Amino acid sequence: MRVLRERLEELERAFDVPGETVCEIAKTFSEEMLAGRWGQGSLKMLPTFITPPTGKELGDFLTIDFGGTNVRIGLIGLGGDGCYKIKRTCSVTLRDSAGNYDYTSENTTAEELFDFIVLQIGHLTKDCRTGTNLLGHTFSFPTQQINSARAILLNWTKEFKTGGVEGKEVTALLEAALDRISLQHIKPVVILNDTTATLLTAAYLDSDAHIGSICGTGHNTCYLEGPMLINIESGNFNKFPITVFDRLLNEASEKPDHQLLEKAVSGRYVGELIRLIIGSLVEEKLLFRGRAAAIEVAHSISAPEVALIIKDESTDLSSVANWVKTKWAVQELSFKELNSLRQISLMVVRRAARLIAATFIGILLRIDPGLKSRHVIGIDGSMFEKMPFFLATILQAFHEVYPEKSDAIVVKHINDGSSVGAAVAAAVVSQRVI
Ligand code: GLC
Repeated sequence: MRVLRERLEELERAFDVPGETVCEIAKTFSEEMLAGRWGQGSLKMLPTFITPPTGKELGDFLTIDFGGTNVRIGLIGLGGDGCYKIKRTCSVTLRDSAGNYDYTSENTTAEELFDFIVLQIGHLTKDCRTGTNLLGHTFSFPTQQINSARAILLNWTKEFKTGGVEGKEVTALLEAALDRISLQHIKPVVILNDTTATLLTAAYLDSDAHIGSICGTGHNTCYLEGPMLINIESGNFNKFPITVFDRLLNEASEKPDHQLLEKAVSGRYVGELIRLIIGSLVEEKLLFRGRAAAIEVAHSISAPEVALIIKDESTDLSSVANWVKTKWAVQELSFKELNSLRQISLMVVRRAARLIAATFIGILLRIDPGLKSRHVIGIDGSMFEKMPFFLATILQAFHEVYPEKSDAIVVKHINDGSSVGAAVAAAVVSQRVI
């Protein structure tokens, strides 16, 4: 019978992305970027029709940040000197946990969804004079932009299924709802992806920002090419080595063969990959003496739980032990078993960060092959913010590929990028500058 140690070594090899592989993936990614411009390959390369800000953008703007089950409405003031202030904000869920409503399901119409969102704008602006009627809308799904103000939803991602939105022009749906709720004085002037919003926020603060990325529940990246920001929809990248566990996860997913990179790196899936690995070791009787039925429940490990496992650097791994006991009712765990859970979590998260780093290098190969200039990469999202070692692992990969010059790549956490970027975009397109 194989021992746990040997099996873990095998897994380590399968999830390892050595320096040469990072380089190969980067090269392939950059080729796919080119193919995507011609409508080929896995990258959509969607033009945004938005140019970068100067940092002098000024004024108050209403914002919608719609990219997941929580929608955030905001009133954001731009100071014109690279400063901003979130003056008002509120957040609502599109899926009530008590089951009273679910605006993400196929039983809901586009009208119901947008009426609900617009009602929240009404609440936010009800008892104050906002001094603005310009609205920036961050809509974090793949869209074909007609221009900076109008965009057609290509397909829902992230398990959204609301009827009557796919294939429709989203700003028209929003305007119709503003009309119905008697808020027609509010003018949606721009619609953009969350990666674009993150890049715009980063660029508002630092003119060397050329890449914006979301490493959260979903994953995607946007970059500046020539005068325009391009939404890569990199979560759909599929030319990188995958393991048997990626295959299992993909086959059981809502949309098999879509969003393969996202399924390997994002918060929605890392826990599931780890669960599948642990499950196979339990089945092989290498863990928990083959007994842990609860581990068979799909998607039962969340990204915050993965963060908790990785964070435990104590000598007895007490947090991991408590977690396993409460979660799976498994008692009497050996240190070896606990440590293997941590090792598995680390290998999956480490691979995620290195794959993402490879795609960033792929973009740099396109925009600055010799890495002659400074480039700021603005990133937001829970994986980046909360997963231990995520940033350090990305930086380490940069250092391996560019041992002499990796300092030229600066990674910055862009807080509230999705909302602030909507205000910056609204200012850019309506030329509200000092
Ligand atoms: C999904 C969406 C993409 C978005 C990303 C992060 O990948 O398709 O548009 O940017 O999630 O929210």
